[in-house]
Amino acid sequence: MRVDAAVARAARRMTVAGVEAPRRTALWLLEHVAGLSAAAAAASPERELGVPELAAFENLVDLRAAGVPLQHLLGVQEFHGLDFEVTPDVLIPRHETEILADAAIARWRAAGRDGDWIVDVGTGSGCIPVVLARACAGARVAAVDVSRDALRVARRNAARHGSEVRFVESDLLVAIGGPVAIVTANLPYVPDDEIQALQREVRDHDPHLALAGGPDGLEVYRRFLAGVGRVLHADGMVFCEIGMGQADAFAGIAAGAGVRVIERLDDSAGIPRVMVAKVW
Ligand SMILES: C[S@@+](CC[C@H](N)C(=O)[O-])C[C@H]1O[C@@H](n2cnc3c(N)ncnc32)[C@H](O)[C@@H]1O
Repeated sequence: MRVDAAVARAARRMTVAGVEAPRRTALWLLEHVAGLSAAAAAASPERELGVPELAAFENLVDLRAAGVPLQHLLGVQEFHGLDFEVTPDVLIPRHETEILADAAIARWRAAGRDGDWIVDVGTGSGCIPVVLARACAGARVAAVDVSRDALRVARRNAARHGSEVRFVESDLLVAIGGPVAIVTANLPYVPDDEIQALQREVRDHDPHLALAGGPDGLEVYRRFLAGVGRVLHADGMVFCEIGMGQADAFAGIAAGAGVRVIERLDDSAGIPRVMVAKVW
């Protein structure tokens, strides 16, 4: 089948299935399977796809139409300018999480001291510690997840980018000693009763352990905030990503745990997304 016909058929199939940007998606999948860029496909619409290429392409189109995220089909997601391997064992990194990474980098550059520790909690793909290890000269970086499968992916991502990160399997900060200069955390924060309403790509393909935040979405943060004071050094700082409408509740829980929110950073939609905190 000609390239233009294969792309048009794939785009129609994905349009019917409600996939966003169906034509662009078809071109990305074609490039992944046949190594043919969008520009090359446009320049040679008459090029014939071989039977194995066409079968592989249509298989990916079927999976995407069935709701499998594009990132799982391509195997990567870009975060902070770097490509990260993603699998069903890790949350697909979100662009809003770059706000958290940037804030932690700015803090390190303003006040970091050689040899101080940065610890990322709930590291998933390892996107945050890998970026921090590259950007925070002199820092020692560790990353924690309770999921051994996620840690395997995170280790591969650190190796891929030549980042030195110490990975630790732990429930929150249990296995971490202090003192730590910066703690970053993008922990699960979706309220249990909102999980069913998430996009199918998220609900059915991101790990449940990466999403489920208990009845109000803040159950995991409640436990985290109760323990973070133990590991932070006196002028240490905490950077946490939260969900829409959770800022006041988060600040209240933090205050009860002896942690003071000193700044709220909005995402591009104006939603408070990152809470910056210190121990009182
Ligand atoms: C929302 S994902 C964030 C992943 C990554 N930090 C990112 O920003 O893309 C939350 C992560 O927290 C981990 N997690 C959940 N409960 C945890 C716990 N009690 N202790 C450590 N990690 C936990 C999950 O396995 C998941 O990888």
